[in-house]
Amino acid sequence: MADAPRPSFNRHTDPFVELISAEAVAHRIAELGAQITADYERLGPDAGAEVVVVGVLKGSVIFMADLVRHIALPVTLDFIGAASYGDATKSSGVVQITQDLTRPIEGKHLLLVEDIVDTGHTVHYLLENLATRRPASIKLAALLHKPERQEREVTIDYLGFTIPNKFVVGYGLDVAQQWRNLPFIGHVADS
Ligand code: IMP
Repeated sequence: MADAPRPSFNRHTDPFVELISAEAVAHRIAELGAQITADYERLGPDAGAEVVVVGVLKGSVIFMADLVRHIALPVTLDFIGAASYGDATKSSGVVQITQDLTRPIEGKHLLLVEDIVDTGHTVHYLLENLATRRPASIKLAALLHKPERQEREVTIDYLGFTIPNKFVVGYGLDVAQQWRNLPFIGHVADS
């Protein structure tokens, strides 16, 4: 079958510059999925049925959709919505759950999937909140980490890429809610 035509992003008028290619993202996600599969397989033959993969809306949806297709276990999926007050450059550290899980997670192995750990406030808050619901274990997968901006200590169990302190867009991440649909990760041209 002939390759379908690719959409033409990255035109000279587009407000971003490619930072991580779609191919590099796909390759890294396949590695993470294999690692996650191997780790959870160690829990025993029925482990997959007890694993809940929870995506943080909306930024994680594209990463999560690709990641779970590399986890060769019968996991279940759920989503949580979080908003953190502040603007793009300054987070207040106040996080609010805007949409909750649809099912309890008590006794389940929880894998939280986030697009980026920037200041770390969002995942720190979510991990603390989710821990009170008594899951059997909690792990964190994040596609991107900006260590220069981090204010909260967070352990990322499965990390895609460490990036410099630039505002990034694409592959789920937005600038003013746009460009989540870019197939690669770009940085905003003047950031
Ligand atoms: P936090 O600062 O780690 O709490 O990150 C909060 C949220 O801000 C992340 O989940 C992203 O949705 C968003 N965010 C942080 N850095 C960027 C970026 O460079 N581009 C797009 N969104 C970002």
